[in-house]
Amino acid sequence: MPRAAIAPVHGCRIACLLLTLVCLNAASPATAQSPTRLEPITPIPAMPAQDPRRLVLGERLFSDPRLSHDNTHSCSSCHDIRTNGASANAHDLTPEGQPLALNTPTVFNASLNFRLNWEGNFRSLEEHAKQTLRNPAIMASSADEVVSKLRADPDMVRQFRDAYGREPDVAGLLDAIATYERSLVTPGSRFDRWLVGEAAAITPEELSGYQLFKSLGCISCHQGVNVGGNLFQRHGIFHPLGSAEPVLVRVPSLRNVATTPPYFHDGSAPTLSEAVRAMGIAQLDRVLTDQQIAAIVAFLDTLTGTYRSEAVQPVTDTPRAATALP
Ligand code: HEC
Ligand code: HEC
Repeated sequence: MPRAAIAPVHGCRIACLLLTLVCLNAASPATAQSPTRLEPITPIPAMPAQDPRRLVLGERLFSDPRLSHDNTHSCSSCHDIRTNGASANAHDLTPEGQPLALNTPTVFNASLNFRLNWEGNFRSLEEHAKQTLRNPAIMASSADEVVSKLRADPDMVRQFRDAYGREPDVAGLLDAIATYERSLVTPGSRFDRWLVGEAAAITPEELSGYQLFKSLGCISCHQGVNVGGNLFQRHGIFHPLGSAEPVLVRVPSLRNVATTPPYFHDGSAPTLSEAVRAMGIAQLDRVLTDQQIAAIVAFLDTLTGTYRSEAVQPVTDTPRAATALP
């Protein structure tokens, strides 16, 4: 009996909640410049608090060429943290100098994606790092090989002891890299500032681009904290988009997208306008006008955040001076 009595109360609560949501939504056009707090995109959180010794060690390892079998390249060779966390190339090269099949995604905010890589085939940064070390097309080494190199370096042994209380080992190596990767978040974009109530952080054109992004349906695939990175989708739903493989991809994040040309899994779109035009055709079966494209690109520009208080920037600009790299 008590259950039956409670049910209608719940029903009413849900109905009231829905009604409130509808009212809030309806109220939003009147206050066009201020966010409703019900936006389908949420701000990038601040860098998580982590053990500073593990973080510094991870940062050092990320730029350490000993992570590759022949000691020629590091994670930073393809993921440049001083600029956009990726590279300017459509296809970075394997240790043999062959182009990789897929474009290099940025490592910025990668920790906020629900799966990693274009095909979303990894769930954790540690597992991803382990496979990247082993991947013959990337580091062509292994976590064990890297650990044995690091154990021969007294300075590294000391740093691992400080951070983990033990000599370099696989668990510490992968944890340090993942700890650093979790710190690679880029809060503070103009769009996020607008989301938390700074009405003047974006211009009316940028806001109309965002409204278009929602009304056209881009938002159905690109949403959440990373404006993407939380779903699998086919690419080329209505019309083909670049190379056919892989058929199913994790929708890419659009955070910092203005700084990461070229675009798509095969790097086939050289500019953001071309990528937006292609998305309209391939994913929505719509030919967008130049004006619509310009407004959406203006909105996408507001998604550029900051890393260590400096704006994320395209590779062509002068690299950030602060972070030391080899
Ligand atoms: C030769 C260039 C290259 C090097 C070196 C490289 N990567 Fe990558 N990275 C890529 C490519 C290409 C992908 C996408 C691979 C895929 O989707 O299958 C990728 C994907 C990633 C991702 C997933 C990003 C996302 O949003 O899904 C992370 C994280 C990452 N790399 C970290 C690292 C780390 C850590 C190292 C060093 C151990 C490293 N990478 C070395 C090219 C490189
Ligand atoms: C049905 C889901 C879907 C819709 C709708 C959609 N996208 Fe995408 N978007 C994707 C997928 C999947 C990719 C990756 C495509 C690829 O690499 O082949 C992507 C890639 C992108 C990229 C390139 C990102 C990068 O780093 O390479 C941009 C920019 C983009 N979309 C913008 C938009 C815009 C603007 C709209 C609306 C006009 C839109 N998308 C609509 C799923 C979608």
